[in-house]
Amino acid sequence: MAEKMKLGVLTGGGDCPGLNAVIRAVVKTAINDYDMEVVGFFDGYQGLIENRYRALKAVDVSGILTLGGTILGTSNRADPFNFPVLQGDEYIYLDRSSQALQNFERLGLDALIAIGGDGTMAASHGMAEKGMKIIGVPKTIDNDLWGTDQTFGFDSALASATEAIDKIHSTAQSHHRVMIIEVMGRYAGWLALASGIAGGGDIILIPEIPYQVDVICDKIKTRNRRGKNFSIVVIGEGAMPEGGEMVVKRIVETSPDKLRLGGISNQLAGQIEGVTTLETRVTILGHLLRGGTPTAFDRILATQFGVRAVELANEGKFGEMVALKGNEIEHIPISEVAGKTRKVQLDSPLLKTALSLDTSLGVEGLEMLKPEVAV
Ligand code: F6P
Repeated sequence: MAEKMKLGVLTGGGDCPGLNAVIRAVVKTAINDYDMEVVGFFDGYQGLIENRYRALKAVDVSGILTLGGTILGTSNRADPFNFPVLQGDEYIYLDRSSQALQNFERLGLDALIAIGGDGTMAASHGMAEKGMKIIGVPKTIDNDLWGTDQTFGFDSALASATEAIDKIHSTAQSHHRVMIIEVMGRYAGWLALASGIAGGGDIILIPEIPYQVDVICDKIKTRNRRGKNFSIVVIGEGAMPEGGEMVVKRIVETSPDKLRLGGISNQLAGQIEGVTTLETRVTILGHLLRGGTPTAFDRILATQFGVRAVELANEGKFGEMVALKGNEIEHIPISEVAGKTRKVQLDSPLLKTALSLDTSLGVEGLEMLKPEVAV
């Protein structure tokens, strides 16, 4: 009798809603459709390097579809090629990729399903080059992964951000204030742009379009003159003024991307108050956007990704990342994804949508994005 195929699965990078839905789909599909065995590594690549894992049976993934976070734990500091190890009171960085490969082989694994964002895909690309059979599954609330139209996790974060903006409208309206809502998203503005549109933001500021404070203040004053005595500003954590810089909240030395952003809204609030004299308040949504149950869309997308990843393993198609293209679940080489970031492009239809609603993007001169008036 042929030996059963054995899959490993891990979740790397920041957590987001839908990780458990992928794990569940991987385990169920592997067992039900292909009679495979599955083991889950703890804390992303760290678990593979340290040989910490558990067998995953159908019973282990029962009831986890709706759970936020990941039952396997995760780490955004576990790059196998640059792995931080505490020596005394200092970190040194070691290449532990051969250890990871050895553990993979000793366990008799036929494939590793690596669920993660850009950092996990970069590490997976390196491990694939070393000979590990890997299939990637794209996650992140930032939606900034190259090669897929959408990552799972984004829709859930968008729903949370939109709900927060809706709620903040009450205070904005009642107290005639300017309310700034800062959302995560790192260097990409997808979350700010989409939640700003969904929540009816008056001004949306994204990292890809450095803003001008006077343009923002003019917009707020114009609204006031027209009787709208409140304004909602949605800003991505990576946004910055023209000629200015992103606000770095902390530096995580052991992380591949060391910068943690946050706080630009406080700077902007002071500037708006200074120019308009209107009371301006800030809400930074932060990790709230990474938590909670996944939306129905994310549950379906995560499940489809998990099923497709196991199919690819069965077909022996390794070194690929599953991806959403239109309405189809496809796959593209991880080598094409690694090291790239998908940002909001100036020709993004969402930007045009915002402008058509007279939403300010914090700069002048974007009129060229608007449709031409037919004559
Ligand atoms: O990539 C997801 C993300 O939540 C970003 O939006 C944010 O900049 C970063 O992770 C925060 O990371 P940490 O949880 O390490 O602070």
